[in-house]
Amino acid sequence: MRNSGGIHYDEEREAWDVFSYELVHQVLSDYKHFSSRTSTEGPVSSLIGMDPPRHKLYRSLVNQAFTQKSIDMQADRIGAIAGELLDKVAGTGHMDIIQDFSYPLPVIVIAEMLGVRPEDRELFKDWSDRLVASVDPTSGQTVQQLTEVKQQAAEELYRYFTEVIEWRRKAPGDDLVSELLRAKIDNEHLDMPSLLSFCLLLLVAGNETTTNLIGNALLTFLENQDALERLYAEPDLLPSALEESLRYRSPIQSLSRRAVEDITLNGKLIQADQEVVVWMGSANRDEAKFAGASQFIPDRKPNPHLAFGQGIHFCLGAPLARLEARIAVKALLQRCRHLHLDAGAELTRTPGSFVFGYKELPV
Ligand code: HEM
Repeated sequence: MRNSGGIHYDEEREAWDVFSYELVHQVLSDYKHFSSRTSTEGPVSSLIGMDPPRHKLYRSLVNQAFTQKSIDMQADRIGAIAGELLDKVAGTGHMDIIQDFSYPLPVIVIAEMLGVRPEDRELFKDWSDRLVASVDPTSGQTVQQLTEVKQQAAEELYRYFTEVIEWRRKAPGDDLVSELLRAKIDNEHLDMPSLLSFCLLLLVAGNETTTNLIGNALLTFLENQDALERLYAEPDLLPSALEESLRYRSPIQSLSRRAVEDITLNGKLIQADQEVVVWMGSANRDEAKFAGASQFIPDRKPNPHLAFGQGIHFCLGAPLARLEARIAVKALLQRCRHLHLDAGAELTRTPGSFVFGYKELPV
C-alpha cells in the first residue's frame, strides 16, 4: 500500500487511508485542508478536535500550565511511584510488566498532577479505564453499550472535577488544576466546560498511550537481546532506544482528519467532507524515510518518527510521556538484571487498530 501511491480509498468504510511518510506528514501539517473536527470524537470534544483559531487560543492557555518545568518537577515522584510498584512484586521473581507496572504508573502520575486525593486513586483509575475502553470482539458488548459506559464515566468524572476545581479556586496550590485556573490570555481564563474537558482529555490521551510506550519498548528490548545487553551496559542509550521503540511500535497507529474542501493528494481527488485516516504506524516504517525501517536500531539518529503526531496538534504530553518512560524503564532495568519473557508466553494484543499494545507481558 505504502509503495503503490501511499494513498487508497476504502469503499466499505468510505474513507481514505494514507500510508507513506511523506503524505502522512503532509496531511498532519496542513490543518487548513484537513480538519481535526471529525465524526469519530468520543465523549470528550476538546483541544484535540479543534481547528484554529480556537485551537491556538486554547492550546496557548493549557501550555501555560503544562510547561517543561511543571513536568520536570514530577521526576522524583515518578521515580518514587515506579519504586513502589516494583516493591510490590519484589522477591516473587515474576511480574506482569503491563498489569503490575506500565498500566498503573501513568494513571497515578496524572492523578497526582491533577491533585486527586490519594484515597480516590482507585475511583479515578476505574473512570479512566471506562473512558478509553474499546469494543472487545470476545466480550459480546455492542458499540452502543460501550458509548453509554463512556458517557457515564465522563459524567462521573465531570462531577468529581467540578468539586476539585471549586476547591482549588478557593485554595490554590502548585497542582495542574491550580495552574490551569491561573492561566490567562488577554485577561481571559479557561471557562468551566473547557477546564473539565481538558482534565478528561489528559486521561484519555495520556494513560493507555504511555502504558503502551513502556510495554512496547520493553517487549522490543526483550526480543532484541543485543539491544538489552547494550542498555544494561550503557544506560545513556535509553532515550534514543525509547524513541526508536516509538517509531518501531507506535502506541497510536492512526489519526483521523476530514477534508475541508476538494483537494488532490498524490494525484487522488479527495472530496470535501470525506474522512482521511493517516497511518503513522505505516509512515514510521517507510523505507523511503528510514533506512532499515523494519529493524530495531536502538541508537538510530536522526529519528523523525511521527508517533506523537505532527503540526499544531503535536502531542502536548510528549515531554511527560518521555520522562515517565525513561524513569520507569531505567528503574525496572536497574532492579531486574536478568529480565526475560516467560517461557511459552502467548501475547495478546489490545483490541482495535487505532492503538498498538499488549494486554499482558509476563516476565
Ligand atoms: C495529542 C500521541 C502521551 C496529551 C497527541 C497526538 C498524538 C499523541 C499522535 C496528536 C493527535 C492529533 O493530531 O489529532 C501520544 C503518545 C503518547 C502520548 C504516543 C505516549 C507515548 C500523552 C500524555 C498526555 C498527552 C502523557 C498528557 C498527560 C495530549 C494532548 C493532545 C495530544 C492534550 C492534544 C494536543 C492538541 O490537540 O493540540 N498525542 N500521546 N499525550 N496528546 Fe498525546
